[in-house]
Amino acid sequence: MKKLFINIKELIQIRDASISKVSGAEMGILPTIKNAFLLIENDLILDFGKMSTLSKNEVDELIDCQGKMIVPTWCDSHTHIVYAGNREGEFSDKIKGLSYEEIAKKGGGILNSAKKLRETTEDELYNQASKRIEEIIEFGTGAVEIKSGYGLTVDTEVKMLRVIKKLQLNFPIKIKATFLGAHAFPLKYQNDKKAYIDLIINEMLPKIAKEKLADFVDVFCEKGYFTVKQTDRILQAAKSYGLIPKIHVNQFNSIGGVKIGVKNESLSVDHLEVITNEDIEALKNHSTMPVALPSCSFFLGIPYTPARKIIDANLPLALASDYNPGSTPSGNMNFVVSTACIKMKMTPEEAINAATINGAYAMDIQQTHGSITIGKKASFNITKEIPSYTFIPYSFGNNLIENTYLNGKLMKFKD
Ligand code: NIG
Ligand code: FE
Repeated sequence: MKKLFINIKELIQIRDASISKVSGAEMGILPTIKNAFLLIENDLILDFGKMSTLSKNEVDELIDCQGKMIVPTWCDSHTHIVYAGNREGEFSDKIKGLSYEEIAKKGGGILNSAKKLRETTEDELYNQASKRIEEIIEFGTGAVEIKSGYGLTVDTEVKMLRVIKKLQLNFPIKIKATFLGAHAFPLKYQNDKKAYIDLIINEMLPKIAKEKLADFVDVFCEKGYFTVKQTDRILQAAKSYGLIPKIHVNQFNSIGGVKIGVKNESLSVDHLEVITNEDIEALKNHSTMPVALPSCSFFLGIPYTPARKIIDANLPLALASDYNPGSTPSGNMNFVVSTACIKMKMTPEEAINAATINGAYAMDIQQTHGSITIGKKASFNITKEIPSYTFIPYSFGNNLIENTYLNGKLMKFKD
């Protein structure tokens, strides 16, 4: 089945297959073709170029994109979208002035979600997460990473990962799974933290590895959560089971998590709202992708990741949503891209690169996603009629995506 998209006002993020991420000044360059065509066959990109170079083609479907642009689907490399219920009660507490840490101390936070999740059946959890998957596809996301971490027992962590597996089987969006048993210490282990880490290492990890339920491992390395030493121990154990680290670091404090992430060859280090010069140095000359989560900063009212400092140090940067019930109840990557421009002073080119090719790298799917490249998945968004791609971050709060194709198929949510 061949589909030909013609008269594309601008075809955005065209890349050679050899490009796996962009760093530093390269992030400011977004390669495009004006007045372009795009040819796909089944689930893959077959060809693209200027309309003037289009040769006669026998196709099954012809789609005229006059006035519209095509951009690869967003690659959201950090979410927690499998969760039970919501935490809007904490929202009111937050408005009244309580901090994220104070809400957690009051019995809210991650442990609140863990309690709700334990009381929710696997089917119900799946139904709730399915709605969020549909929602993010509507916002133009074509690949997403999803973490466990609201179970915090062997059975409930496995329950979450099974839900992710079922989502992988039933939805056309590309999904990568991360085991985040080290998200918080359950109440019963507050006075014996070593015992919970032993449980993660001796019981959770072997079971998850045996059932092949996760690609990555994550730890919330932060004051009051997991220390650098505990993080190191968990990452090393997880690596011995073939799980690749992707960790939460520097959300509130810089305690050495970046260094330990890099030492353990983490695919990404995420959050980085607080980042020291030492952290920047640690990231240089390594393959670890720094990931910023501006919607989380927006919602919690905490500092934004200093993107300029990171990019100007010649490092790469990816953008993700962090969609979760506590710190970011939104998976809208259009808003993430806008916020990165408005609040983090990233240029539209940098933000789009960060949310596509660099996001794909942060999920280890850069071979198949993140750019318009011959042989990659035909997963892209067709915009409404817009004057320029800058209009995407500029018109914040709007969804300018008219249609989304995942693996060559038109998503029908909009009808
Ligand atoms: O990335 N910081 C840790 N984890 C999530 C929040 C989890 C929650 O509050 O439920 C985050 O912000
Ligand atoms: Fe997170």
